[in-house]
Amino acid sequence: MKKVLVTGGLGYIGSHTVVSLQHAGYEVLVVDDLSNAELSVLDGIEAITGVKPDFQKLDLRVKADLEDYFKWNSFDGIIHFAASKAVAESVENPLLYYENNLHSLVYLLQQCNKHSLSNFIFSSSCTVYGEPDELPITEDAPVKNALSPYGNTKQISEEIIFDTCAAGDLRSISLRYFNPIGAHDSAEIGELPKGTPQNLVPFITQTAAGIRKELSVFGNDYPTPDGSCIRDYIHVMDLAEAHVVALERLMNNQNEESYEVFNLGTGKGSSVLEVVKAFENVTGKELNYKLVDRRPGDVTAVYADIRKANEKLGWTAKRSMDEALASAWQWEKKIRGLS
Ligand code: NAD
Ligand code: WQD
Repeated sequence: MKKVLVTGGLGYIGSHTVVSLQHAGYEVLVVDDLSNAELSVLDGIEAITGVKPDFQKLDLRVKADLEDYFKWNSFDGIIHFAASKAVAESVENPLLYYENNLHSLVYLLQQCNKHSLSNFIFSSSCTVYGEPDELPITEDAPVKNALSPYGNTKQISEEIIFDTCAAGDLRSISLRYFNPIGAHDSAEIGELPKGTPQNLVPFITQTAAGIRKELSVFGNDYPTPDGSCIRDYIHVMDLAEAHVVALERLMNNQNEESYEVFNLGTGKGSSVLEVVKAFENVTGKELNYKLVDRRPGDVTAVYADIRKANEKLGWTAKRSMDEALASAWQWEKKIRGLS
């Protein structure tokens, strides 16, 4: 059985990817410092797959602990999710973001080099494109000035990985996620935002559950058909499955270059108001929302050109927006004890 290390594997996207890896027959080892995750996620994973992954609480910034971990464990591949990800927090506390997202990555890559581990998947983001000149966005689109320190850490991380691949034996794929939403169908795992959610779908589900009074739709004067922003929302299980495919591309030596980049989206843009309407249709619940001013830093529209992932990874998102929203609602109801 091949072994895969998943950093940040108790987080939102990491936990769903652990499930996909286990279903694909991999032995999964998880490290996470629990800064944005609960230990109970391990039980959720076990409830789905029947296997609790090997878990070590570990802060990747503590170099000595990481060295020790790599001394006693070996892997055929690594998927690196662990990072801080709140855009607004990164503006308030940039050094936390530069320290956590960049130190962790550098220390991890040092261990890869030291132990001759070469298959490395990185969680990047469509945020690297900034406000795009053309839609849909291809991987060749220029990386624009980052709109936040968080976004900048993703740009710098990609450069660090590119340089490391060029200098040695590392082979890596950066996956640029568009907007992940939804949860596993079982409602055993899902997104667990701390405090007030910044992202649209958890805010919607918490509003429907009565935890938030109303959703603020940020901006109704964008140059889009209904005036609200457009994003490419992708089901988290589609995203999870793409990680398995990308890792296998490296493990089977199918990569064309030592460093590759893929967009992971559906290729379809949806406006905020379309998401609200879809949620209402799927759940039969009327959502309390109001139109308010634009949120600073939001781009008007982004959605992926997915041809490269289709052609080279043989992967395509299979699940619909309705399925994603229904699963997000099932998860919200489960964690709130609603029927
Ligand atoms: P998440 O916060 O749910 O998961 C990240 C996990 O990493 C958490 O469990 C956290 O406890 C852990 N972690 C953070 N710092 C750590 C450290 N120093 N050592 C060990 N563990 C640490 O976030 P997510 O939504 O699952 O995102 C996963 C990755 O995908 C991140 O790199 C994020 O930047 C990236 N990403 C997320 C989105 C999104 O919208 N969710 C979009 C694009 C990219
Ligand atoms: C989606 C749309 C909001 C909340 C962020 C990061 C990006 C990536 C994904 C990590 C926007 C609108 C939202 C609300 C709203 N993360 N909205 N009311 O901003 O596209 O991307 O997450 O890499 O880097 O920036 O996602 O879910 O916050 O917003 O109207 O209460 O919903 O204005 O148009 P975003 P989001």
